[in-house]
Amino acid sequence: MRTLLCLIIFLSSVSFAAPFQETEAQKQQRMAWWTDARFGLFIHWGTYAMAARHEWVKTRERMTDKEYEKYFELFDPDLYNPKEWAQAAKNAGMKYFVITAKHHEGFCLWDSKYTDYKATNTPYGKDLLRPMVEAFRAEGLRVGFYYSLIDWHHPEYPVDRIHPRRDDKEFREKNKDRDITQYQEYLHNQVRELLTEFGTIDCLFLDYSFPGEDGKGRDDWQSEKLLAMVRELQPNVIVNDRLDLLDVPGGWDFRTPEQFMPREWVQVDGQRVPWETCQTFSGSWGYYRDEYTWKSPRQLVTMLIETVSKGGNLLLNVGPTARGTFDDRAMDRLEAMGEWMKLHDRSIYGCTQAPDHFPKPDNCLLTYHPELNRIYVHVLEWPFKSLHLDGFDGKVKYAQLLNDASEVQFASRRGAWMDEGKNKESQTLTLQLPVKAPDVTVPVIELFLQ
Ligand code: GLC
Repeated sequence: MRTLLCLIIFLSSVSFAAPFQETEAQKQQRMAWWTDARFGLFIHWGTYAMAARHEWVKTRERMTDKEYEKYFELFDPDLYNPKEWAQAAKNAGMKYFVITAKHHEGFCLWDSKYTDYKATNTPYGKDLLRPMVEAFRAEGLRVGFYYSLIDWHHPEYPVDRIHPRRDDKEFREKNKDRDITQYQEYLHNQVRELLTEFGTIDCLFLDYSFPGEDGKGRDDWQSEKLLAMVRELQPNVIVNDRLDLLDVPGGWDFRTPEQFMPREWVQVDGQRVPWETCQTFSGSWGYYRDEYTWKSPRQLVTMLIETVSKGGNLLLNVGPTARGTFDDRAMDRLEAMGEWMKLHDRSIYGCTQAPDHFPKPDNCLLTYHPELNRIYVHVLEWPFKSLHLDGFDGKVKYAQLLNDASEVQFASRRGAWMDEGKNKESQTLTLQLPVKAPDVTVPVIELFLQ
């Protein structure tokens, strides 16, 4: 009897947060639309757009709440028209978008019932999130929310090593009893709100953990509990990897390298995993008026191709202005990408890394569409007449320029090529290219495989 009682007490003390159970095939199925889409829009928008010098301005400049408050008191994006944003994204060829519902500054774009620090209480006076979700959905894009785990406004959020007031000893001392459990409740409530009041949410980007001394991680966010709730509310949602649950099965859906190009398909424990790289046009996520390191359209198109050639997705960011517009520099780039995509999206959607037995020719990137069984040769530097493709001969039945579907003739040639360190006889296929490259940002040759 006593043993039974002990057992009951023991069992009731163990938390049964049901682990997320899913086979690899089920996960692939859940993520299929996303892997096909390959290209999305990230939007970083908050009151920091007014400072126009990085979304981290509050903490970079060690501002007090009072100093930062002016942005909230004056925020009035009078030109905001999310239909224009959605059209710009769609025309660029993007298939989904991810919006910062709340960034680290703590300001909420939606009419959350858990805070006053929200769009409806600014001079603008209206919910900014709902019309955006509707506008993007109407253009056929899938919906993703970014929600910052970090919060530099919440009064119970403990000061840490990246908090705006970290260097103020007196402030730290006065605030040392901040109660993280209250913040946890707020965080969980807001995520629940976002996942219950806006219909189907396709992606969730929770940002970010920085465990260790004076940092925050899974215990601070109650990550496992939070994720269990997310999966329960939106079973098909695709979740990023910043909850500090990398070692937990089902703790993340995809890896998120940012601001650099991975050298190869991102791997975890030697296995290729789904990945999405988020990138900026110019080094800042939030609108930054005086930032001049804008990437050229060609760099951006190449970035998209390279990402897909390594099996990844590209989430490309715009930081709208505080008037609610995409500035000209962003628009120019989105339009240029759209122009290229209009003729070449077949080499992006549904594509992935080419099989290893098709080595990458000089100055080219390869993508591969498994269902169509076609290889796309993205020619970064147009060669003079001959483009040699080792290992391709006998494997191609037809070749054409993708931009105008004009035939590219080819010839075979016996040659030696390297395979796993061994010298191997193989046949090289030589494409006979026109001397003049087609007038597109990056020319693409479509190879129909046998
Ligand atoms: C970093 C930054 C943040 C940005 C994010 C995008 O985590 O803190 O400002 O939102 O990267 O992935």
